[in-house]
This record gives sequence, structure tokens and C-alpha cells, in this order.
Amino acid sequence: MISVTFVNRDGDSMKVKAKVGDTFLDAAINNDVDLEGFGACEGTLSCSTCHIIFKKEDFDKLPDKPSDEEMDMLDLAYGLCDTSRLGCQITLTESMDGIVVTVPAQVADARNR
Ligand code: FES
Repeated sequence: MISVTFVNRDGDSMKVKAKVGDTFLDAAINNDVDLEGFGACEGTLSCSTCHIIFKKEDFDKLPDKPSDEEMDMLDLAYGLCDTSRLGCQITLTESMDGIVVTVPAQVADARNR
């Protein structure tokens, strides 16, 4: 298990324990992290509500580059920035222990367009 901290839309941080091999979305759901509307499509890459923002140094260390599908979905996410990814597409690794990610202030569900 590793620890992951989500900083929510109000700026509150929630530190949770998460399993290596799970995604950030799994970590949020399994720990009942209070993030309204987060992960609405349950990881099927069709909503962009699982948008999370990494610190630059963590972003640069992420093992996988986003797929074209993730990039397309990210384009629809609210508050996109250079270190944005979709939480359902990123698997937790041992080296992410202690990582802090921010959930953008607003959520845009791409399915509502
Ligand atoms: Fe919908 Fe990640 S949960 S795209």
C-alpha cells in the first residue's frame, strides 16, 4: 500500500491508502474520497471527470504517456494544464508513495456535450 493525497475543489486535502496497481480513480472510490462527480464514467474513458493535476516533478516521472484517447478526452476537461492527466488511466506504482494530486475546481462531464 502507498499513500496518496487528493486536494479537493475546496483546497482540503485527503490522504488515503491505496494499492499499487490500482488507478487514482480506484484509490478515490475505494476510500470514499469526497469528490463530487469524480469518475462519472467509471474509468471507461468517456467523461473526463477524473481529471487530476500533478506537480511538475511527479508528472515528469509518470510511467506512461497519455494515449490518443486520453488526450482527446483531456481536451474536454475543465481547467486543463500542462500537468493534467485522467485519474482512471494512471496506475499507482510503489514510487508514487506520498504523491499529492489536485482535483480541478470544476468538473466537465464530456458526455454532456
Ligand atoms: Fe471517466 Fe476517467 S472516469 S474518463
